[in-house]
Amino acid sequence: MGLFSTSFVLLVVVALSAADGDDEFANYTITGRRFPDGFTFGVATAAYQIEGAWDADGKGEQVWDTFIHERPERVDDRSNGDVASDSYHRYEDDVRCMKEVGVDYYRFSIAWSRIIPDGDSETVSSKGIEYYTKLFKELKANGIKTMVTLYHWDLPTALEKKGGWLNPKIVEWFQMYALICYTFFGEYVDVWVTINEPKQICHTGYGNGAYAPGVVSPGVAEYVCARHVLLAHAGAWHMFDEQFRERLGSRNTIVIDSDWYEPATDSEADAEAAEVKRQFVHGMYAHPVFKGDWPQVMIDNVAKFSRLQGFNASRLPAFSEEEVRFVKGTYDFLALNHYTTYMVAAKEGLDFPAEVSWDADAGVDAYQKDTWQTAAVGWFKIVPWGFGKLLRWLKATYGDIEIVITENGVSDRTGTLRDQHRIDYFKAYMSHMLDAMYDGGVNVTAYTAWSIIDNFEWTQGFNAKLGMYYVNMSDPLRPRIAKDSSKYFANVISTRCLLDSCE
Ligand SMILES: *[C@@H]1O[C@H](CO)[C@@H](O)[C@H](O)[C@H]1NC(C)=O
Ligand SMILES: *[C@@H]1O[C@H](CO)[C@@H](O)[C@H](O)[C@H]1NC(C)=O
Ligand SMILES: *[C@@H]1O[C@H](CO)[C@@H](O)[C@H](O)[C@H]1NC(C)=O
Ligand SMILES: *[C@@H]1O[C@H](CO)[C@@H](O)[C@H](O)[C@H]1NC(C)=O
Repeated sequence: MGLFSTSFVLLVVVALSAADGDDEFANYTITGRRFPDGFTFGVATAAYQIEGAWDADGKGEQVWDTFIHERPERVDDRSNGDVASDSYHRYEDDVRCMKEVGVDYYRFSIAWSRIIPDGDSETVSSKGIEYYTKLFKELKANGIKTMVTLYHWDLPTALEKKGGWLNPKIVEWFQMYALICYTFFGEYVDVWVTINEPKQICHTGYGNGAYAPGVVSPGVAEYVCARHVLLAHAGAWHMFDEQFRERLGSRNTIVIDSDWYEPATDSEADAEAAEVKRQFVHGMYAHPVFKGDWPQVMIDNVAKFSRLQGFNASRLPAFSEEEVRFVKGTYDFLALNHYTTYMVAAKEGLDFPAEVSWDADAGVDAYQKDTWQTAAVGWFKIVPWGFGKLLRWLKATYGDIEIVITENGVSDRTGTLRDQHRIDYFKAYMSHMLDAMYDGGVNVTAYTAWSIIDNFEWTQGFNAKLGMYYVNMSDPLRPRIAKDSSKYFANVISTRCLLDSCE
C-alpha cells in the first residue's frame, strides 16, 4: 500500500520538473531509429550489492563488510550488505528475471574473498567455486551469456591490513586471483572485466575516504592507488592475453566510469577547463590504457602544484618507460559506466590551490544546474544529452574504437512498481546513444542497464533503488517483483526500438 501511494507522488514530481527543467534541450525528440543488427543488451550487478551471505561457507571478510560493521552510520539508512538481495541463495530467481526481460548477457562480479578467503594464499575455497559454477550453469541453461567483473570494490580485509591498493604487492595478489578465476570459470565467461570503476576505488576509497576502506589521503594516496590499480589490471590482462585468450576465445578489458563535463560558457577558457576535468576523471585511467602514461595535463598540474605546496616531488607517482609500455594497449574494447553530467568553468585568480586534492589538482569549478531533474540523491541529475556528448568525445579522443556501455540507470527512493521515470531515463539516454551512433559514427555495440533487481547501493544503502525488479528488503524471502521498466526494457530488446514503432 505504502508503495503505491508514494509512487503516485513521485510521478507527479518527475512530470513537473521535466516540464520546467533544462529548457535548452526541451525540444529533443526520442529517436525512431532501430538498434543495428548484432547490438546486444544486458543487465549488471555486483557481488556485495546482491549476494548477502557475507560470512557463509568460509567466505572471508572484505573491506565493505569491515567498513560498515565498524561504523554502521556510514550508510544513510544504517543498512548493510550482510543479506542484501540474498542472491547467494536466490540466484535462480535473478536468472528467471533476466529470462523474462530477454537479455543477451548478464554482467556480475565475483567476490575475491569467496574464492580466496584471506586474499593471497593458495587455498581456494571450494564452496566459493561451487556457488559461481552453479550460477554459470543456470545462466547457460537459460541461454544467457556472461560478462564477469573480477573486482567490484570488495578487497579481502586481510589484504587491506597489508596496505591494500597502496601496497605494490597488490599487483601480484590480483594476478594470482585472476589466474584462479580464469582457470576455474574461463569456459563459462564470454567477456572478462578486470576492474570496475577505478575512480571509486581510489578517489573515494583512498582519497576522500567516503567508501571502503575509508582511507583519507586526498591528492596523495589516491594517486598511489591509481598507479597500482592500472598495473594490476595490466598484469591480469596480459596473463589472459598470453595464457587464455586463444583457448577460451573470450575478451578482456577494464571498466572506467565517467560523467560528462560540459563547458559553462562558449569561452575558450571554459572549453579548456572542461577538457582538463575530463582528463582528470576519465583520462586518468583511460589515457594510460589507450594511449600510454598519465594525461600530460595531470603530469604538469600535479608536479607544479606539488612543488608550490612544498612537496619535494610530484604527488603523482610516475610510470617507468617499461610500465608505460606494459599498461598501454591492455584492452579489447572501451567499456563505459555513465550516469550524470556536470558543467565546468575555468577558475580565476589563485596561482595554485592551498588544498591538496585530486579535485583541486584539476584547478576548475564543476557544478550541476538546479533546473536539472534529480534522482534519489542530489548529485544524481538526469541529463540525457550529456551521454551523447560523452560518446562523441570518446571517439574524438581515443579514435574509432568499439564501445560497450557497461552501466547506465537511475535511482529512486521508493522502489515503486510504476517506475515511469526509469522508463523515461532509459529511453532518453539510449536515444542520445543511438544519435551518437548514427550521426556521430560512434561504434557502440552493447548496452548494459543497472540493474536487474533492487540491491544494496553502497553508502546510500536501501534508500536508492535502481532495479527493474522490486526487492522488499524486509521480507526474508526477498521476492523479485517486476516493475514497469522491466517490461519496457523487454520490449526494447524484442523490437529493437525505443518507441511503439520504428522506421
Ligand atoms: C533545440 O533547441 C535548441 C535551443 O533553442 C537549439 O539550439 C536546437 O537546434 C534545437 N534542436 C532541434 C532539434 O530543434
Ligand atoms: C621527500 O620527502 C619524503 C618525506 O616527506 C622522503 O621520504 C623522501 O625521501 C623525499 N624525497 C626526496 C626525493 O627527497
Ligand atoms: C564496431 O566494432 C566491431 C568490433 O571491433 C566491428 O566488428 C564492427 O565492424 C564495428 N562497426 C562499425 C560500424 O565500425
Ligand atoms: C515487505 O515485507 C514486510 C515483511 O514481510 C511486509 O510487512 C511489508 O508489507 C512488505 N512491503 C511491501 C511494500 O510489500
